Order: sequence, then C-alpha cells, then structure tokens
Amino acid sequence: MLKTLVTLVTGGASGLGRGTVNRFAKKGGQVIICDLPTSKGEEVTKEIGENVQFIPADVTSEKDIQNLVDEITKKYGKLNLVVNCAGIYKTNILYNSSSARTTPLNDFKDVLMTNVVGTFNVIRLTAGLLSKNEPDGDGLRGVIVNTSGMNAFKGTLGQTTNSAACGAIHSMTKPLASDLGGEGIRVVTIAPSFIKTPMNEHFSEALQHTICSDSISAPNRFGDADEFAHLVQTIVSNPYINGTTVELSAGLQVYL
Ligand SMILES: NC(=O)c1ccc[n+]([C@@H]2O[C@H](COP(=O)([O-])OP(=O)(O)OC[C@H]3O[C@@H](n4cnc5c(N)ncnc54)[C@H](O)[C@@H]3O)[C@@H](O)[C@H]2O)c1
Repeated sequence: MLKTLVTLVTGGASGLGRGTVNRFAKKGGQVIICDLPTSKGEEVTKEIGENVQFIPADVTSEKDIQNLVDEITKKYGKLNLVVNCAGIYKTNILYNSSSARTTPLNDFKDVLMTNVVGTFNVIRLTAGLLSKNEPDGDGLRGVIVNTSGMNAFKGTLGQTTNSAACGAIHSMTKPLASDLGGEGIRVVTIAPSFIKTPMNEHFSEALQHTICSDSISAPNRFGDADEFAHLVQTIVSNPYINGTTVELSAGLQVYL
C-alpha cells in the first residue's frame, strides 16, 4: 500500500522530516520534500533516491505552498499523505532580573509563525487535493500528520514559546479532524519528547543519559528519527486512528 502513496513532508531536509522521507521513500512511494531554499533539500534528495523530489518552499507563504500544490497536481495528479515537520525551536527564560532582560517578542512570533501558522497554511492548501482522491472502502481519502511535542502537556523553564506552539498544534487536531472528516481525511498529531535530530545536537551523550535516567524513560535514551517515521507509518496504516495526539516519549515523565 505504501508503494502507491504520494507523500509531502515539510521540513523534510532535516531531523524528523528527513527520517520520514527516508522511510517512506524506501517503501517505494513518491516523496516530496518541502523545505527552505537554504536547507539541505537537494543533498537529501540525491542521497535518498529517485523517488524523492525537493520543492523549495516556505511553509508560511501562501504563494510558495500554492505553487507547490500546483506542481504536485501537475506531476503526480494526487497527494495521499501530508506530514508537517517544518519548525523551529527557541528557548528563553521570560525575565531575568539580574540582567533586566525580558524575552524578545520576535522569538515568540517567529516560532508561532513557522510552527503553527506554517502547519495551518500547509493543511488548508493541501486539503483540497487530498479530498479529490478516490475513497477507499471506509470512505477515506487521505491523512495529515502534524508535529507537536511533549511541551504541549508539560511546562518547564524557558519553554513558554515552544509550549505555546506545541499546545496550539495539539489543540488544532480535533477540530481539524472534524472539519476534514466529511472529506475522508484523517488528522493525527505526534507529540515527541526528545528525538536525536540536529535540533538536539547540543545535548551531550552524558546529558541525554541523565535526562532519560532522571525521568525514568524506557528505553533509557533519546528517540531516533526513524522511530518518529515508524509512528507516521503506523498512523497511515491504521484507519481507526484519527483526531488525536499520540505521545512518542518512551514514557518520559520529568522534563528539563
Ligand atoms: N527533535 C525533537 O526532539 C522534537 C521534539 C518535539 C518537537 N519537535 C518539533 O518538531 C519540529 C521538527 O524538529 P526537528 O528536530 O526535525 O528539527 P530540524 O531543525 O532538524 O528540522 C526542521 C526542518 O524544518 C525546516 N524549516 C524551518 N522553517 C521552515 C519554513 N518556514 N518552511 C519550510 N521549512 C522550514 C528547516 O529548514 C529544517 O530542515 C520542530 O518544530 C520541533 O520543535 C522536535
């Protein structure tokens, strides 16, 4: 079944998105990477294989995403799966009295703009193409998978911005699934804890181990991007998963 899929992965040039591109391309489907022109999109495309195409686009731009949808329509005639992984991450303690420094407003705006507005923009502009697919026996035509994070449910130092973005993406899941259910489109969100990607490069092996030990996660390690991709595959394969956020956290309880 995966062989026949046309999949769009935003943020597909790195991290969680790249892991997803890799897994779905190896299963034989056609994968389109949407990422910034400055990203490693070309490099990743060459490395992974013929059934991967890079279309440079900014998820926050109406024009870029409409052009991308037009290109997919022209070249492949359909789209089955959209995986939203494009995002940025910023940590800031809201106020520090010793330096009298408050957090920059633009950091908050940038993260909300890329992660939340970008995800919403991609969903609203791809839903029409997904809805044109022939329905399967259950009346289903397509799947949208979003990326939130455990910050949606846990609150800790310096994470207000990321929690706001993760929380918004989590909260959009049920109403989006309601809006698109009539079109036969499922909407599911994944909330990872710590997955080894360039975003988490600053954590040394020792610190990763301490975080996982302190929070009693099992397995006692950060996740791998292919474990994220594996969950995307499970969501795609199981038609009864819809309108929910699935934690991908190895049971991690405490958050730094
Ligand atoms: N890695 C984790 O442990 C983890 C955990 C929870 C949530 N998340 C969230 O998942 C998302 C992806 O994380 P990652 O670890 O894969 O990060 P990453 O930095 O490895 O990859 C993000 C990709 O998104 C792309 N991107 C950024 N802005 C874009 C835009 N405007 N348009 C198109 N592409 C854009 C980047 O170029 C990059 O290729 C982020 O929002 C992150 O906060 C990650």
